[in-house]
Amino acid sequence: MANPKQPVVRMSSITKHFLDVTANKNITFNLYPGEICALLGENGAGKTTLMNILFGYYTCDEGEIFIKEEKVNLSAPKDAISRGVGMIHQHFALVPSQTVLENIIIGADSGKGIFLDLKSARQELLQLQERFGLQIDPDARVWTLSVGEQQKVEILKALYREVDILIMDEPTAVLAPAEISDLFSTLRSLVKEGQSVVFISHKLNEVMDISDRIVVLRAGQVVAEKKTADTNTRELASFMVGRDLLEIIEKKTLNAGQPVLEIEKLDALNDKKLLALKSLNLVVRQNEILGLAGISGNGQKELSEVLFGIREPIGGLIKIDGGRLKFGNPAAIIKSKIGRIPEDRIDTGLLMDLTVEENLILENHSSSEFHRYGLMKSRKIHQFSEDLISAYDIMTAGRDAVTKSLSGGNLQKVMLARELAGRPKAIVASQPTRGLDVGAMEYIHQRILQERERGAGILLISEDLDEIFALSDRIAVLFEGAIMGEAHGEEASREQIGLWMSGVKK
Ligand SMILES: Nc1ncnc2c1ncn2[C@@H]1O[C@H](COP(=O)(O)OP(=O)(O)OP(=O)(O)O)[C@@H](O)[C@H]1O
Ligand SMILES: [Mg+2]
Repeated sequence: MANPKQPVVRMSSITKHFLDVTANKNITFNLYPGEICALLGENGAGKTTLMNILFGYYTCDEGEIFIKEEKVNLSAPKDAISRGVGMIHQHFALVPSQTVLENIIIGADSGKGIFLDLKSARQELLQLQERFGLQIDPDARVWTLSVGEQQKVEILKALYREVDILIMDEPTAVLAPAEISDLFSTLRSLVKEGQSVVFISHKLNEVMDISDRIVVLRAGQVVAEKKTADTNTRELASFMVGRDLLEIIEKKTLNAGQPVLEIEKLDALNDKKLLALKSLNLVVRQNEILGLAGISGNGQKELSEVLFGIREPIGGLIKIDGGRLKFGNPAAIIKSKIGRIPEDRIDTGLLMDLTVEENLILENHSSSEFHRYGLMKSRKIHQFSEDLISAYDIMTAGRDAVTKSLSGGNLQKVMLARELAGRPKAIVASQPTRGLDVGAMEYIHQRILQERERGAGILLISEDLDEIFALSDRIAVLFEGAIMGEAHGEEASREQIGLWMSGVKK
């Protein structure tokens, strides 16, 4: 419901530059009490920047902010929190070795004195849990919690600080379907009590489901503002990218060739030293995409880590293009010419403090193309990186820009550009479009299909069933570390795949 009341937040004519980039340009944004307002836009459109300004993490170059009708000067997050604004980033800021309760009370300055009364803090936490349906054991250590549970801790942490304006930056990107519906009921109970939520997401169906109002940014400006009831996903997509998207992915009929990735009886442990992969068998052939569906936590992370050379399995074997892979040797993996698109581009994919060019040539730098008599051929390298930047349409100030200045979608493009430059025979793509806008997602899907046509075999590990169905020639379901079932792409039904995902074998 758009609210006739006074806005609880009024951001007026906000402009923010980063060197040459204008991340926000004369943006006016209002948030009303009791509403969920979705903030949409392509990667790099300026969503996170705008919310970081409201959270006092960045200061704007121009513009004014009013919170509860008072003009404010936010120079640090603590200023925002003291006015009731909380923000939950995608990368949580919890201390893994501490308990839920400890995490919630650390740093909370609520006039409760230096000597925290643990008993009353616990009491208060339990009341909040009851009120908002956020069930979680206050004494559990954070490292033992799933991502969805950790997110609940972040929300409780905000509520404990008496936040009534909650910003969530892509909260569902890391959640399983059941966790998403849990989060949505929490958000609904928050706004029922008069709180306000800013919800950033790239998933248009979710936005249609949860929001009351939608604001769309493009290239740092507001391009549309709509009541959710008055719009639809197709219109939103075209506001975001400024064009209509291809509706259906064109997929050529190809015959699968020789196996390029063979996994036999693979056993691997997880971080808790429990068996996460149990005698796993998989084959991916040339010219085919094998979609590996499943709810996260069933071994996906461990499987991709083994394939990316950062986790050593305890049994089994892997063959790339017929050659047996030596475990525990990341250099061998790089040499094996497996294209690796990891799920966490920040932790495992890219070195954020290096330049875009340095990331693009990482792994390709030993190629004879780039050096002679031990000297790097810098002109060739510059050409190589500039070609990739333009081929992949990477939005950056240039090849010398520091990688961490890129937006999520552009980071993923850098990753893809680097990994596919070596024309790998086997590609492992783990959640390749997580966190990407619809335009970037379409681009990456096209790119993966082109690789299939080129002759690569692709293992697509994804929790997004739409993605799995759109791209896969075959679909296998990972459940508790083993394959629960497998079907041909055209013959598979969602019901069947869904049953396998929940461990039901027919
Ligand atoms: N700290 C920074 N330094 C330099 N440039 C930045 C910085 N933060 C953001 N930018 C740039 O500002 C623009 C807007 O980025 P922002 O992170 O706000 O986009 P976004 O809409 O949140 O995108 P995404 O959907 O990918 O998360 C981008 O071009 C980005 O590269
Ligand atoms: Mg962002």
